[in-house]
Amino acid sequence: MLLNLAQSRRALFFGGKGGVGKTSVASTTALAAARAGRRVLIVSTDPAHNLGHLWQRSIGADIVELRENLYGTEIDPEATVEEHLAAVGETLYSVMPENLRGEVKRHLELSRQAPGTHEAAILERIADLLVLGLRDFDLVVFDTAPSGHTARLMALPEIMNSWVEGLLRNRQKSEKFAAAVRGLEHDTNRDHLVETRGQDPLIERDLRIRRILLRRQSRFETLRDTLRDASLVSFVIVTNAERMPVLESAQLYEQLTASGVDVGGLVVNRRSPADAGSFLAERRALEDSTLELMPSTLTGLPMVELPLLPGELSGEEALGRFADLLV
Ligand SMILES: Nc1ncnc2c1ncn2[C@@H]1O[C@H](COP(=O)(O)OP(=O)(O)OP(=O)(O)O)[C@@H](O)[C@H]1O
Ligand SMILES: [Mg+2]
Repeated sequence: MLLNLAQSRRALFFGGKGGVGKTSVASTTALAAARAGRRVLIVSTDPAHNLGHLWQRSIGADIVELRENLYGTEIDPEATVEEHLAAVGETLYSVMPENLRGEVKRHLELSRQAPGTHEAAILERIADLLVLGLRDFDLVVFDTAPSGHTARLMALPEIMNSWVEGLLRNRQKSEKFAAAVRGLEHDTNRDHLVETRGQDPLIERDLRIRRILLRRQSRFETLRDTLRDASLVSFVIVTNAERMPVLESAQLYEQLTASGVDVGGLVVNRRSPADAGSFLAERRALEDSTLELMPSTLTGLPMVELPLLPGELSGEEALGRFADLLV
């Protein structure tokens, strides 16, 4: 199932409850695809990165080669927020009058701590890496943060899009009003903005703001459409055969499908062996009964079970052995 998805899609997201094995399964799938000859980029979107630990090397914000055909990068939330705010600042400075510079600066300082800023910055970085990945790689694998965060992230392009749309509508109203007051008219058609260089600086500013908003809107639209394109992108839910992760997986499934994201499969990781002593056999039986209670939304998904390993899963060799189990 995982290899199938890795062959048929251009981007795969791995998500699920904390600690179930998202990073391990995402890395294993990426490795298996790279071995099969695909050029793969693995991206960790989780601020608490484990990708470097798993690959036994430091990774960081730049794209590094992990092995033949396989590249990795970790989104650095702090640096991403700084970059994001710098870009927003540049935009604001370019459209606001000089005397409001202090105001803009204060606004940016507050934004750094504001709820949502982190998420917006990470989302923009994901959007960039998705575009870059689709252009330069055969497959992009996203190792995501625990469920709640990721489900919100997937819904965000739509939310941001509506938000920008609202801003544009408000601006349009105020522009029309301002133009009427001044006895001026300008073309507000989004595709045919009139260049008014040398004209009223206020109108020029309004048009620049509108152009910036339209660019942002089109970026979010592209991201949303890409995330919803099941022929390109699919989401794999990783879980353990335990009550809480299964409940959280069912919730994640609902949230993802509500956002229009295709859920391509379910990985049940860390299955206890039935033939390694009575303790593990008992656990196995408990897992079986948990899986039997899984809601039909999840049981309807293509599923793969991965065994509990005796040792730690770390380094390419261990990942390679794990990857052999995917086929
Ligand atoms: N099948 C397995 N058998 C044994 N250990 C495993 C298995 N899968 C993962 N692990 C181990 O479990 C731990 C958690 O795995 P991993 O980091 O992949 O989970 P995660 O879902 O990415 O966690 P987080 O939510 O913190 O990002 C790691 O130490 C990993 O080596
Ligand atoms: Mg992880």
